[in-house]
Amino acid sequence: MTSVGIDAVELWTGNLKLDLAETFAVEKGKDPAYFTEGLGLRASSFPDSYEDIVTMGANAAKRLMDRKGLEPEDIGRIDVATESSFDNSKPLSTYIAGCLEQVYDGDFHHANKGERKFACIAGTQSVDDAYNWIRAGRNRGRKAIVVATDTALYERDDSGEATQGAGAVALLIDEDPDLVELSTEQGYGSADETDFLKPQQQFPSVDGKRSVQVYLARMREALEDYESVAGDVRLADFAYAPYHTPYPGMVRKAAALAYRHVTRDTEVEDELAETIGRQPRRETFDDDSAYQDAVREYMDALKDTDQYKSWYAATVEPTLSISRDVGNWYTASVHVARIAALKDAYDDDRDLAGENLLVASYGSGAQAEIHGETVQDGWREEVAALNVDEQLESRYDLSWSEYEEVHDRHNHEKDTELEEFTAPSGEFVFDGWGRMGERKYTYVE
Ligand code: HMG
Repeated sequence: MTSVGIDAVELWTGNLKLDLAETFAVEKGKDPAYFTEGLGLRASSFPDSYEDIVTMGANAAKRLMDRKGLEPEDIGRIDVATESSFDNSKPLSTYIAGCLEQVYDGDFHHANKGERKFACIAGTQSVDDAYNWIRAGRNRGRKAIVVATDTALYERDDSGEATQGAGAVALLIDEDPDLVELSTEQGYGSADETDFLKPQQQFPSVDGKRSVQVYLARMREALEDYESVAGDVRLADFAYAPYHTPYPGMVRKAAALAYRHVTRDTEVEDELAETIGRQPRRETFDDDSAYQDAVREYMDALKDTDQYKSWYAATVEPTLSISRDVGNWYTASVHVARIAALKDAYDDDRDLAGENLLVASYGSGAQAEIHGETVQDGWREEVAALNVDEQLESRYDLSWSEYEEVHDRHNHEKDTELEEFTAPSGEFVFDGWGRMGERKYTYVE
C-alpha cells in the first residue's frame, strides 16, 4: 500500500507580538503567573496592518514551495482551513493561489481548491482530504498543499483574550513523504455542542469553562474510538503526543486524563498503586459525586508521581514550546505542536526515524480526532530547514496601546487605518480593496 503523509511543513507567524506577563498582566493588574503558569503562555502573535489570513497562508505556502523546489504544475490540490474567513463564497485557496501565481511562472488552473470549516479541527480534516485524494489515485502524481491559517481574535475583555494568536502552517501532502506517514486508523469523538461559535460574527461567543469540559469529553471519545481500530495505546509506543493547543494549560489537563485512561489495567497502574493506590472504578462507588471526588484525588496524586512527570516532560511538554510564544492559531495549532515536537528531537540530536506520534486534533462545536504518525527518514533535513526561532525573535513587541490599535485594525466592524510597525520584506501584503469588495494582495521583494 502506498505510504502517504506530510512531506514538509512551514510556519508563518504574524509579525507582531504581545508579551502577556510584561504587558497584558501589567495593564490588567493581574499576576503574571496566571498567564505563564496557569495558562502556560508567554506571548501572543498578531498580524501587522498589512497582514491577514491570506498573506500569512501564502507566505507559508511560498516558503514550502521554494524549499521543495516546486512549481505550480506540481500541485494538484490546495485546501485552506480557517475559521477566520472574510468571504462566504470565494474560498481562501483562490486568494492564496492568486498570490502565488504572482511569483511563479505557471498557474494552478488545474488544481482542485477548497476551504474547510470545522473550528480548529478543519486543518486536520484538510490533511485527511488530501490524504484520501492521493490514496484514491486521483492526484495524477501531483502533490497537495494544505494551508491552516487564522487570526484567533476575541472580543476585548473576553475570557479568551489572553489566548489570542495569529499565524499559518502550510503542509505538503504526498506519497512517500519525508516527514511523517499518516496512519489509516483514526478515532473520532463528535457531538453537537454549543461552547464556542461565531454565528455570522467575527469574534466568537465563548462559554470558556464549558469549552474545556467539551474538549476533554470529545478527546476521551476519540481516544476510545482510536483504540477500537488501532488496538490499545501503550505509552512506550509514542515518542510525542502533539495536541490541539488553545493554551498549554488545556493540554496539561487532557494529557493527565489520557495517561489515566491508557494506563488503566496495565503494569503501570500496578506500579503506581504502590504509591497512590489503584484508579477509582465507578462500580465500586454508590454515587457519582463520590466517584468524581475520588477521581479528582487520584488525578492530583498521579500528576505528582515520578512516572507521570517523566512521561509528560518527554512526550507532551516539548510539543508546547512554540505555542507558549504564539498563542492559539486555531486550525494551525495542532500542526504547530507537531513542529515543536520534531524540533525538540532535532535540537536534542535524537534519531526519531521510525518512531511514532499520537496526534490529537480538536475543534469546538465539537469534534476531536486522534491518529498515529510514523516519523520518516527525511525528517531531520526537513526540520533543519525551518526558521521558527528567527521568525519568533524578529516580531515587533507591542505596547498595550499599540495592541489596542492592532485589535481595532483587524476588527471587521471598524474601519481603522494604522501605520505598519514592521517593514515587509520578501512577503505578500494586503494591498487594498478591489472593485467588487475583494481584498487585494501584492508581493514585496
Ligand atoms: P480562566 O477562566 O481565567 O481560567 O480562563 P481559570 O480561572 O480556570 O485559570 C486557568 C488556570 O490558571 C487554572 O489552572 C488556574 O488555577 C490558574 P488549572 O486549573 O487549569 O490547572 N491560575 C493561576 N496560576 C498561577 N498563578 C495565578 C493563577 N491564577 C489562576 N495567579 C478559559 C480559561 C479557558 C476559560 C479562557 O482562557 C477562555 O475562555 N479561553 C477561550 C476558550 C478556550 O480556549 N477553550 C479551550 C478549549 S476549547 C478549544 O480548544 C477550541 C478553540 O481552540 C476554538 C476552536 O476550536 O475553534 C478555543
